[in-house]
Amino acid sequence: MALANSFLLPTKSHLALHVSSPPSKKTLLSTNPSSNFNFNFNKALSSRRWKQSWHVAATADIKAASTLLDGEEDQKVLVEPSSEQERKGEREVADYDWTQEWYPLYLTKNVPHDAPLGLKVYDKNIVLFRDANHQFQCYEDRCPHRLAKLSEGQLIDGRLECLYHGWQFEGEGKCVKIPQLPADAKIPKSACVKTYEVRDSQGVLWVWMSPKTPPNLGKIPWFENFARPGFQDISTTHELPYDHSILLENLMDSAHIPISHDRTDWTAKREDAQPLGFEVTERTDRGFAGWWGREKDGSKPNFLWFEAPCVLQNNREIVDKMVK
Ligand code: FES
Repeated sequence: MALANSFLLPTKSHLALHVSSPPSKKTLLSTNPSSNFNFNFNKALSSRRWKQSWHVAATADIKAASTLLDGEEDQKVLVEPSSEQERKGEREVADYDWTQEWYPLYLTKNVPHDAPLGLKVYDKNIVLFRDANHQFQCYEDRCPHRLAKLSEGQLIDGRLECLYHGWQFEGEGKCVKIPQLPADAKIPKSACVKTYEVRDSQGVLWVWMSPKTPPNLGKIPWFENFARPGFQDISTTHELPYDHSILLENLMDSAHIPISHDRTDWTAKREDAQPLGFEVTERTDRGFAGWWGREKDGSKPNFLWFEAPCVLQNNREIVDKMVK
């Protein structure tokens, strides 16, 4: 799925992103763009400026850094080289664990109230549902009994019931009912289902994919615009037939817009294809940020920020020339 700002979302993508390498083939895309196009418009006009922005948060495949050896790339990410290292062609890598990250699952308001929702993060099948207390629960989408998909089951009084033999699970994955057991038999601990931590933040449900490490709440991405009074959220959801890394790189790749978006919106004209300048202001082992713009204008009015595995924000400030 993708939450898209139709105003800015490109219609094509065709490039691959090389960041790190979780083991996956197929994905559910989940992006979270937004625009404050209408945000406090009067105030914006009075200041002769308004801003337009989009954010992306996505789950999916990430390709291996091409120079790392098989097996190493899963746990490594390139870090900022010094100019001396770049000159020598040397690169430094840092440890990276793709499971110790938050991944956006769904728009919170769109999670069904009466049925489990099957999703996929990399190669992990998970199931999301609202329990009897209206809390979100996220389990491995695999029944501990005979491995049926729990997402194909049903909700009974806030418990998730497997469609095969009717085992029921609640809360932290505890099995609370096995219809075939004698009344005096105890349900074994091995009947519990594996769980994942989920959090609702700014209208998006995020999942922490590490089964071993406690969730790091400080890592949940925060989009400042969503918290502003008057911010208009126009997020929507789309299923995309490719992984999120392709979408992320497409959204970073402004050079394609004049050509592939020619006349599809008011900003795109093929005759505007030209060199772009990007001034990197921050590089870390999880991403980068910087200002970019047309080289010939000499200005860099756009600010782009990427943070692995799935956050991209692009802000553009436009001066309204109609207001004196
Ligand atoms: S497979 Fe789920 S109850 Fe048997």
